[in-house]
Amino acid sequence: MITGIGSLVTNDPGHGTGPLGLLTDAAVVIDGDRVAWVGPAAQAPAADERFDADGRALLPGFVDSHAHLVFAGDRTAEFNARMSGQAYSAGGIRTTVAATRAASDAELEANLAGFVREALRQGTTTIECKSGYGLTVEDEARALRIAAKHTPETTYLGAHIVAPEYAEDPAGYVDLVTGEMLDACAPHARWVDVFCEKGAFDGDQARAVLTAGIERGLTPRVHANQLTYGPGVQLAVELGAASADHCTHLTDEDVAALAGSATVATLLPGAEFSTRAEYPSGRRLLDAGAVVALSTDCNPGSSFTSSMAFCIAVAVREMGMTPDEAVWAATAGGAHALRRSDVGTIAIGARADLLLLDAPSHVHLAYRPGVPLTAAVWRAGVREV
Ligand code: NIG
Ligand code: FE
Repeated sequence: MITGIGSLVTNDPGHGTGPLGLLTDAAVVIDGDRVAWVGPAAQAPAADERFDADGRALLPGFVDSHAHLVFAGDRTAEFNARMSGQAYSAGGIRTTVAATRAASDAELEANLAGFVREALRQGTTTIECKSGYGLTVEDEARALRIAAKHTPETTYLGAHIVAPEYAEDPAGYVDLVTGEMLDACAPHARWVDVFCEKGAFDGDQARAVLTAGIERGLTPRVHANQLTYGPGVQLAVELGAASADHCTHLTDEDVAALAGSATVATLLPGAEFSTRAEYPSGRRLLDAGAVVALSTDCNPGSSFTSSMAFCIAVAVREMGMTPDEAVWAATAGGAHALRRSDVGTIAIGARADLLLLDAPSHVHLAYRPGVPLTAAVWRAGVREV
């Protein structure tokens, strides 16, 4: 039993005040890997073991629904050049593809495990992971095999960019992605994704990729409208994607389509930060009634951060979101984007994924930017940090 919780974010509006379902002076009982009881500390049942939160804030572990963690190599120089004025382009992905292909399985897995651990230390207890830096049948399949050892949320992103071997034959590459590569990858993946963007895949190509994935039992999610306006968001909604990610350049029709659908708008402020681009408007999406998630997009090119707290702080300062909205988006929002009801909430029966902050309130995640606030992390009931 964790007791002495000064402020508890349950994300269960039936259980506390506001959309965050806030409780004060609360306790949480864990049994095995699940939450067994939540309520006022004064009414808590007996427990074998007690942990005193000492008035600090407890919230659901972060759900990072968008990350690219199977890669090797380094793109510091590219970032450095961008910060001296050079523009970001999708083509940088090829640099990481070359390094990833050259790496051993063990090297890739060690990198991935390191990032999962790094994220966990910062309170992330669920993390999605995409392929997309292999771009051959064997390299994409091995990326997903490795990722699946560390998370159930694996995403086939063979359509990250046209593989260099197919530079003159993008249609041939789409055939590969929707054929032999899909066959090799589908057994290791839950989701199918495509980078629908100028310089990557257009609307028709993206539709072909997602449709083929759906036929193989994968559920779509889409890299949509990141660098330019385009068809990605409309396609995501039309195909019933769990999430449209980035959503940086949206028309009013795009916003309306998201608001009228079950497709979550996942915002990735680390990408705009690291490419020195304009942030998406969380406010506009929320006011229209869309469900918004926040994620890191952790990858070596456009967003090399694993910090959900950083994303929350930027969303509050630059994207018109309140601290409550941003914390919800980084926990329950991510769970919606992954269609998970067992994470992103602290309710009876939920997985016991808990983040204790070295702070009296979740608002400190935005109020104290850049400050490490992780006091303790439980994942599936096990104290990990
Ligand atoms: O989500 N947008 C496409 N993929 C990544 C960028 C990957 C890279 O530059 O290596 C993203 O931003
Ligand atoms: Fe991404």
